[in-house]
Amino acid sequence: MKKISVLFVCLGNICRSPAAEAIFINLLERKGLTDGFIVDSAGTGSWHIGKKADSRMRIAAKRRDINILSRARQISSKDFDKFNYILAMDDSNFRNIQDLKNRAVSKDFASVKKIQEFRSVFNEQEVPDPYFGGDEGFDYVLDILEDSVNGFLESIF
Ligand code: 4NP
Repeated sequence: MKKISVLFVCLGNICRSPAAEAIFINLLERKGLTDGFIVDSAGTGSWHIGKKADSRMRIAAKRRDINILSRARQISSKDFDKFNYILAMDDSNFRNIQDLKNRAVSKDFASVKKIQEFRSVFNEQEVPDPYFGGDEGFDYVLDILEDSVNGFLESIF
């Protein structure tokens, strides 16, 4: 059976989207669904290409037994052909992804959505950027993402 491919996108690809990727991978493992999916993350910006996720996010995730292993990369127009779903963390990411999609040769494969469309517990329209804030912001992002990533998986079955 063809795999379902999912790309999580934020600005830097060192805080929110690597966390969303790792939470989704962990959820798929727990549900025995790993083989059915390709999961990745990317940033709209290029500043952190090649870097590990922010250590504050890795530590906060590790406390929940979630390992963030990804290295930052920037989204490219090829991603619209490769992925079934591209999930943005906030409105600004969403607009930047749509702009890139409008300029891409192939425009209609990936479905671009905001991850918070799939929330049920946390009433946040966007996943807040924790980068310039305190440690508690990282835990809050993980709480929000656990909710919306779960909702996303439920939405596709
Ligand atoms: P992210 O967080 O988009 O969740 O990875 C950020 C990381 C870095 C920067 C901004 C947001 N930055 O300005 O370098």
